[in-house]
Parts: sequence; C-alpha cells; structure tokens
Amino acid sequence: MTASAVPSTFDVAAVAAQFPILKREIDGKRIVYLDSGATAQKPEAVLDALDASLRLHNANIHRGVYALAQEATERFEGARERIARFVGGRPSETIFTKNVTEAINLVAYSWGRRNVGAGDTIVLTPMEHHSNIVPWQLLAQEVGAKLAYVDLTEDGRLDLDSLDALLAQGPKLVAVAHISNVLGTRNPIEEIVSRSHAAGALVLVDGAQAVPHGPVDVKALGADFYGFTGHKVYGPTGVGVLWARRELLEAMPPFLAGGDMIGQVDFESSTWRELPWKFEAGTTAYAEATALGTAIDWLGGLGVEAVRTHEAEITAYALERLAEVPGLTIYGPAAEHRGALVSFALDGVHPHDVADILGRSQICVRAGHHCAQPLMRRLGVPATTRASFAAHTTTAEVDALIDGLHGVRKVFQL
Ligand code: ALA
Repeated sequence: MTASAVPSTFDVAAVAAQFPILKREIDGKRIVYLDSGATAQKPEAVLDALDASLRLHNANIHRGVYALAQEATERFEGARERIARFVGGRPSETIFTKNVTEAINLVAYSWGRRNVGAGDTIVLTPMEHHSNIVPWQLLAQEVGAKLAYVDLTEDGRLDLDSLDALLAQGPKLVAVAHISNVLGTRNPIEEIVSRSHAAGALVLVDGAQAVPHGPVDVKALGADFYGFTGHKVYGPTGVGVLWARRELLEAMPPFLAGGDMIGQVDFESSTWRELPWKFEAGTTAYAEATALGTAIDWLGGLGVEAVRTHEAEITAYALERLAEVPGLTIYGPAAEHRGALVSFALDGVHPHDVADILGRSQICVRAGHHCAQPLMRRLGVPATTRASFAAHTTTAEVDALIDGLHGVRKVFQL
C-alpha cells in the first residue's frame, strides 16, 4: 500500500457490525460490498422495524378504527414526519412514492402536463439517470416540448456557462441529479436553483445518490421538487419520497387515482384529499415506509455530517489507490466535487469482465451503463465499472478492490 489509511474518529467497525449481511461468507470469502449506489444493505434496526411492522403492527392504514389499525397509521405517519424533518421539509409536502423513478414520473405527469406545452424547453444534464430523462422525453413527445442538455466539463462537472445559455431560452424546468450515479459529481444545486429561478424555471432534483451520504435540506437548496429512493438510504425497496413546495402540489392534479386519495366519490366525478394523501392512491407500502423512517433515524443517529466525512475519506483514499493501478481510467471529478462512488475502466478489459473477476473474490461492484446510456455515449464508452461506498465501508475493503484489480490484470496478462 503506498497511500496511508486516513485516521478517522468514525467507528466504522461498529457501524459495519450492525449489518448482518456483511458477516456472510460466500465460497469461504467475506463479502466486500461496494455496490451501495445500486442498493444499500440494511442495518439490524431497519430489519427489526420491517419485521415488527408486519409481525406485530400490521393493519391497513387510514381505514380501520380499531387500535391495531390506528397503531399502524401512527407508525406510518410518524415515519413521514421524521423523514420530512430529516430533509428539511414539512410532512404535508412529503409524499411516499414507490421510488425516485415514480417521484419524477409523478411530477412529469401531474405538473408537466399542466405546465409544459408546445415549444417549451426542459433542461436536463447528460449525467442524468434514465429515470430523470425518459419521463421528460415522454412529456416532450406528447406536448411538443423540447429537451436541452447542459454541457459537461472535461472532468465531468456541469458547465454553468452552458446552463446560463440554456436558461436564456426561458425553460420551464431544470431537472438535475444532486450526485451523479456514474461520475460521482456533486452538482452545485443552490447555484443551479438560484440561476434557474432568476430565469423563471423550476428545479427538480434527483437526490437518490445524495440523501444516503450527507445532509440534505430542501429548503436551503431552494429546490422546487426533490426526490429520493428508500432502498439506497438503508431502507426497504418499494418506497421512495417526493418532497415538493406546497403551492406547487396544491395546484397539481392527482397522478394516480384510487382509494385513500379521494375526498368524495360520486358516479361522475370526485374530489381529492388534502396533501400529502392526494398523491398516495391505493394502499401505500406502509410497512416499508415505516421502516424507511427507522432507516432515517438510524442514519441520523450516526450523524449525517460524520457519515459524509467518513465517506469523503474513503472516496479520497479509493481515488488515490486506484491511481496506482496501471492502465486504469477514472471518470468524474476530483474528490472535493464527488459523492461516495468511483467509476473506472481498465485498459484492454471489458468492464463486465472486471466486475466478474472481482465477483469471484466476493468483491461486489456494478458494471454496465448504470442506467445512463446518454452519458456513456458522451464518455465514448459502452460501460464502466463502479465502486460505491457507504457508512460501513472500510479502507481494508478499498484495499481488497485494488488487490482484486491487480488480479484482473494478471488474468488478462496485462
Ligand atoms: N440507480 C441505481 C444505480 O445507479 C440502480 O446503480
């Protein structure tokens, strides 16, 4: 090892010990889980909360008058309150969705079809996940709007001059990732919001890769819409969150329709419940949402600043050690502009082969286009390999990745 492990006061061993899955061995090898960008592993507290919701507190929310149903409703609404507080929002503006994809689709359908028309522009960035591109493509095709993309700098950041040039065209919306799931770029959301608002555009932020990794305050960011997904923030699958400004939500029509979101239903027409329930049709994933509340408590208990500091140290260490591997290209900006992930390519080896060979040592990384095919085209590569980190990641696991990459080079006789 040529780089030294950074000393930290964060007790990463104690954090890792809370994840049962990290104690598993496969083929006699401990799992080195470097794929938290795809989904986070779950600490004991979240597993217990999900189990308790189903085992001890299960009844449909908002419907039953009996004590068990009231208990389930209180647990669910309590989780909403804590999640809202965690991101600096109000419970009435905090809507449970299936995931961030559904959160963005909700905005594209409900706000988009009311507010975007023929000839209007929606500004995106080339580093968006498909979930923050395709809903806008469908909207644009339906109403005759245009999509425009901000340029990237050489090191994979947004070129804010190019944003200004697009804002001069008077777009209706700027939709942008808080942190890119491929480049790791941490985008300057406050600056983007301030420029966009000055030009009369609203801003939607995809926070999927940001909320698990540091403090997020939607009010301080100034965003109009902010979405994130539960399973990446140590919670269960099947639940995500859309936060949006109240006056926008008030003016938006329902997205999905059915039970629980109605005020009054007659044969010909209906009225809607107040916020946030207007946007929660059918039985919400209440057990999962309740456990997401526990995940947020757990993360808050670690201290989001401490988590950010720890992960920044791990990411800087990984960048330093990856640079030692001959023939390895790192995509994205320097450590100070990055979230907790690194995408790379090894000369002469397909990214899938890299992931496959690492996988034989139980080093779990993702390879592929990462649901960002336009970005792959912009980078001129078919795919990358990506290591993504979490509160439980250790420098020893980064070392295992580096050893594994030297092993890949040996297999390919490089
Ligand atoms: N969006 C997730 C990722 O980037 C699945 O891996």
